[in-house]
Amino acid sequence: MNNAKHIMKNIKQMIPKTKTTFFCQSCGTQHNKWVGKCSSCNEWNTIIEEVIHKETKNDRLQIFSGNKDPKASNTSVLLQDIGLQDYPRIAVPGKELTRVLGGGIVPGSLVLFGGEPGIGKSTLMLQLALRLKNLKILYVSGEESEQQIKMRAERIGVTTNMCFILQETNTQNIFQQIAKIEPQLVIIDSIQTLHTAYVESSPGSVSQVRECAAEFLRFAKETNTPVFMIGHITKEGNLAGPKVLEHMVDTVLQFEGDRNHIYRLLRATKNRFGSTNEMGIYEMNGDGLREVTNPSEILITQREAPTSGVAIAATLEGNRPMLIETQALVSSAAYGVPQRSSTGFDSRRLSMLLAVLEKRCGFKLAMRDVFINMAGGIKVEDPGIDLALVCGILSSNEDLPIPQTTCFAGEVGLTGEIRPVNRIEQRIHEAQKLGFEKIFISSYNKKGLDLKQFSIDIITVSKMEEVFSKLFG
Ligand code: TYD
Ligand code: MG
Repeated sequence: MNNAKHIMKNIKQMIPKTKTTFFCQSCGTQHNKWVGKCSSCNEWNTIIEEVIHKETKNDRLQIFSGNKDPKASNTSVLLQDIGLQDYPRIAVPGKELTRVLGGGIVPGSLVLFGGEPGIGKSTLMLQLALRLKNLKILYVSGEESEQQIKMRAERIGVTTNMCFILQETNTQNIFQQIAKIEPQLVIIDSIQTLHTAYVESSPGSVSQVRECAAEFLRFAKETNTPVFMIGHITKEGNLAGPKVLEHMVDTVLQFEGDRNHIYRLLRATKNRFGSTNEMGIYEMNGDGLREVTNPSEILITQREAPTSGVAIAATLEGNRPMLIETQALVSSAAYGVPQRSSTGFDSRRLSMLLAVLEKRCGFKLAMRDVFINMAGGIKVEDPGIDLALVCGILSSNEDLPIPQTTCFAGEVGLTGEIRPVNRIEQRIHEAQKLGFEKIFISSYNKKGLDLKQFSIDIITVSKMEEVFSKLFG
């Protein structure tokens, strides 16, 4: 009897306690009971019960060798006494990625690389892995087989002998391989396919994704090895398995663009080691992604004769000036309700610009269809393209082409005033470099600007009404 009791007790100790919690699949918030609406992100029907099993304290320590005693606490240090350790960044091939990362890969950093399916995340990461010379790299794929990766590598057409491919989804097995190979850079494709034995819910669920990422975070910090994690994006454009990851990682990179266009934009939406203003442009070719080092040349269509509706904007993405072609088409509304459609430009902002034109400048656009397009399928966030867009709309409305050697840089305000934009000098220089002869800027931008340094004709405007007469005479 006594013996049986003893055995039962032993068995009970051997079976891990299962514990379940409720997670919002949208924002990752943990709830202790099921509710219909997440109190944190206000989404409905996103709470799902997930089985989690907390490991015993010593379990986790076996993952990596050479762990510090977790109980050893840190002591506070005076700021001036902290020595600056110079961590040399790992130089990456290609100017675009270098700039977006803020000058190369920081040792021990954890980078999340997000983007819609099919946009080219795996391609860019494999390209990075294959082109980094003299560095031992482990590329972990939970999505594709070794053969598929080999085929992709053949397409890209570069080979190094230092890139290991591992097809595996269990993090414990991955860490075993890592211990064996000792890579200097780890790439995970993708974090949503991984699962750790310490959490029992299915791969891709919030608790799994979070736990797997946490394991790699610990690995990166403890061994000073940089880790890149690919992550998928949900329909709404958020990183799936969600916001929790963004807090955890050092850098969040986003790969965006229209899948039907060949251009792809790489942005850093968070970067602990650099600016988030930078952007890289790539072109998807048959043999992988090619860097676009001079975007202005490809974003402006060379035409034989000027066409109405086309206006060139001198914009700025991060620190990089770039000239972009905006296209507008205004035509009589065939049906009762006029259509407004824009590609690559915020449609609410378009409505605002149209309202300004209607109210302040007396252009009757209410009964007309308006279509807007940014050449190359590129999404621009710089408000400095407003002026070009508005001029394009006017040009199409009146069917008067804008000369091909004219460009614009200015924001349009609600009262129809042309507002100044930042780094105007850089924009003017770029326009001049590309052979433009005329640039329209806000008169408020003129202050402190040495006009003599430019050979390009600078026309300053302060109101929308003025623009029309100065442009079309
Ligand atoms: P992929 O990197 O698999 O996208 P993701 O990992 O983000 O899901 O690439 C997707 C697309 O890129 C695929 O539809 C094929 C295309 N592609 C090319 O056009 N050229 C190439 O050299 C490669 C490798 C892919
Ligand atoms: Mg992929």
